[in-house]
Amino acid sequence: MKTFDELCKLSKDLYFEPFVIKEFITTEEHDFCLKTFDESVQFDPATHGKAIRKDSQMHTDFGPSRFKDIFLPKLDSIFETKSTCVGSNFTQWNSPVPIHTDGYQLPYVSVGETEQNEEILGFAVIVPLRTDTGKGNPTTVMFNQTLYGGGGNFGGPAHPKDSEKITDLGLIEQYTNKAFDKTDPDYHYIDHLSDEKLHGFSIDTVFNWNMRDAIVWHRSQFHCSSKFVGFNNKTHLVFLCNFKMDET
Ligand SMILES: [Fe+2]
Repeated sequence: MKTFDELCKLSKDLYFEPFVIKEFITTEEHDFCLKTFDESVQFDPATHGKAIRKDSQMHTDFGPSRFKDIFLPKLDSIFETKSTCVGSNFTQWNSPVPIHTDGYQLPYVSVGETEQNEEILGFAVIVPLRTDTGKGNPTTVMFNQTLYGGGGNFGGPAHPKDSEKITDLGLIEQYTNKAFDKTDPDYHYIDHLSDEKLHGFSIDTVFNWNMRDAIVWHRSQFHCSSKFVGFNNKTHLVFLCNFKMDET
C-alpha cells in the first residue's frame, strides 16, 4: 500500500497544464444533459447556499446507461494514462465558488478516508451547460498554485462535507506569500474576492465558458469562478477522475 506522500508524488508526476476540448459534447448531448438536470432531484447532501447539486450517478453501477455510453469513452480518450471517473454531478451555482482545489471534492458517495487516500488524484472535467439568462460571460479562473492530495479549500467549505481547510500554506506549491498583483489584466474577473482570500495567489489562465466545450485541469490546481455579470446562476456538468495505479 502506498503512503499518502507517495500518492501525492505520483499525482504530481502526472500534472498537466489546464486545457479546453472544443465541442466536447454535441448539441443533442447538450440538450440531453439539460433535460436530465431539469428532471433530476436535488442531491441534498451536496446542496448548500451557493449551489444546487444533482448527482448524475454516471460513475456508479446504477447510473443511467445513456450517460455512461456518452461520457465514459470521452473521458477515457482524454489521457493515455488510465483513469477512472469517481464522481460526477450537475451543479447550478447561485454565486461564485471561491478559490479551491478539487482535491477535497472526493467522491461524496460514502467512501472512507483511508480508501480515498489510495486514489491518485487525477483530473476534473467541466462541461458548461448554461446561464439562467442565456447571457453573460462566465469563466473559470485557474491559478498557478497547486496542492497535491486532498483538502484544498479556502473561504469556507463549498458544502458541509468539504470540511478540510488548508492550515499549512507551506504545502501549496508556487504560493507567493505576497499580496495579489492587482495590475494583472485579469484581476477584474475576481475583484469580488477579498485581499485576504487572494493573498499568495497568481492567475495562470482564464477559461471562457463556451457551452458544450470541456475545461480540463489537474485536481490539485487552485481555481475559482469569476464574478457573475449578466446572469444569476450558471450550470455545469463535472466529472472528477483519478489516475489508476500502474500495476505493472
Ligand atoms: Fe472545483
